[in-house]
Amino acid sequence: MCGIVGHVGSEQAAPILLDGLRRLEYRGYDSAGVAIHSGGDIKLVRAVGKLKNLQAALEAAPVAGTVGIGHTRWATHGRPSEVNAHPHVAGPVAVVHNGIIENHLALRARLEQGGAKIVSDTDTEIVAHLVHEKVRQGADIESAVRLALGEMHGAYAIAVLSKNEPDRIIVAKSSSPLVLGIGEGAAYCGSDIPALLPYTRDMIFLEDGDMAVLTREGARITRVDGTKVDRPIKHIDWSPVMAEKAGYKHFMLKEIHEQPRAIEDTLRGRLDRENGDVHGHEIGLTEADAKAIRRIYLLACGTSHHAAMTGRYYLESIAKIPTTIELASEFRGRDPIIGEGDLVIAVSQSGETLDTLMAAREAKEKGAKVLAIANVIGSAIPRMADAAFYTHAGPEIGVASTKCFTTQLANLLMLSIWLGKRRGAVSDAQGRELVEGLAKLPVQMREVVLGTRQLVANLARRYRDARDVLFLGRGLSFPMALEGALKLKEISYVHAEGYAAGEMKHGPIALIDSAVPVIVLLPKDRWYDRTFSNLQEAKAREGQVIAIATEGDAAAHGVSQDVIEIPEVLEALTPFLTVLPLQLYSYYVADFKGTDVDQPRNLAKTVTVE
Ligand code: AGP
Repeated sequence: MCGIVGHVGSEQAAPILLDGLRRLEYRGYDSAGVAIHSGGDIKLVRAVGKLKNLQAALEAAPVAGTVGIGHTRWATHGRPSEVNAHPHVAGPVAVVHNGIIENHLALRARLEQGGAKIVSDTDTEIVAHLVHEKVRQGADIESAVRLALGEMHGAYAIAVLSKNEPDRIIVAKSSSPLVLGIGEGAAYCGSDIPALLPYTRDMIFLEDGDMAVLTREGARITRVDGTKVDRPIKHIDWSPVMAEKAGYKHFMLKEIHEQPRAIEDTLRGRLDRENGDVHGHEIGLTEADAKAIRRIYLLACGTSHHAAMTGRYYLESIAKIPTTIELASEFRGRDPIIGEGDLVIAVSQSGETLDTLMAAREAKEKGAKVLAIANVIGSAIPRMADAAFYTHAGPEIGVASTKCFTTQLANLLMLSIWLGKRRGAVSDAQGRELVEGLAKLPVQMREVVLGTRQLVANLARRYRDARDVLFLGRGLSFPMALEGALKLKEISYVHAEGYAAGEMKHGPIALIDSAVPVIVLLPKDRWYDRTFSNLQEAKAREGQVIAIATEGDAAAHGVSQDVIEIPEVLEALTPFLTVLPLQLYSYYVADFKGTDVDQPRNLAKTVTVE
């Protein structure tokens, strides 16, 4: 986890670094710091806690200088404290780092034997001392970093300053994300795109094993072994405003409201309404690939796993391809039987989740083809995959994933239609029905968000002190029940469970009493009657039943305490609508409780540890 940022140019570095760190705070927020070349020295300012503490420290003692690096931390080695906060300094060298150096203990022992005074518990300080060792032996900072990297194993994105060479930043990456930004007379680095967006849209995505020297003239990129490489500059068309709150109280609320637009952007240019098909050019698979698939494995974590569960329904019922779904963290290490003819779909908003990356890599090594569904262009998973089918949700800043989730559903459904058409499983009429249904979604999603938010806020106020909340659903609504529960847990810290409604009677029904809100997903679909019976069972145990049901469902109104209505849509499209009130519910409960909605405790947006 952690976020890093760097700037070399003619503007003052401190405000640029602070601004970049603010945009990266979702990656970790237990301490932050900057190191800036100033008056012939490197000035270090660090503070425990949120970024505002660092900002206050810099306001109290401003640091002038135009070259600097910054870091926002999510602790892995050593508790959150000022001494463990980055940047770490050894002699003339200052380092920020995102990742884990696996052989840090052996390196620490060797460096300490040589007289190094290591003051923190972090693996990053070891990097600083290692680079310092090489500088002491006569290397310039670029060579020193290169030599140090040769001795380190693990995941890293680093940015390094040397007091002796104040015009440059040395950066390198392996497994952790790092983007370079190229401006006019300036160069930047950051853990992701939004950190750099206000300054430049021209970005370079480093590959694992790359390092670069950033100066006012731009970026010179080499492999760690010194070989020169060219990495193309990509123009990113996200506007900085897309990464701001735009008047909403929290990023999460803004991102919930942005979903109709995110779906529109994700569908744009991909629906072939004339032929009831999907244009496949952005999917990255050939017609021959589509026909050759024997089995599909979906790999993902957290919310992306819930999207993938929905994807399994699509791939089996629409494309008619046998599909297995796996938690990426469970897939590895159990010797899955997978190989040629299998397609692995790795679903990840960030494209950087380490469990998903490693699981997909293992599948690829065993001969499977890997298709990534990701939102962040140029991130690690799409880069390692054979093909990438991007969602276009724009940057998602709230730690709780919302708009990326629904755009993942859109990509999975489009992929299923495209595969089904290629394999003769989807008729033109069925294709047309699905494609037309998808095209109408943005309007219907807007209707649901705007039309239900007041009722949902009232329910959230009424039940905000409930100790437990249950979410029930069958079929396509089961992953939504899991997602509703995950959202509530992660941002409001309320205990919640999502269940397949049919499983209730096998145990969990014992939890229900008059204090427990039971949210039942009850759209008009093939599971309706059975879910309706489960709803009645919950009501008979005095649960406070809230139904999410199709407009005009008098039966649902007759038995539920409250009903949140969604428009009638094709069965396959119900998840796009039923999940919206669930996202809003978790948001309002969290807001009433006063939790840190966008940066909930103990979490980070991108999980780059196993
Ligand atoms: C979502 O609200 C979560 N914060 C989390 O479960 C997330 O979906 C998971 O960590 C996977 O992330 P990814 O989509 O970036 O791979």
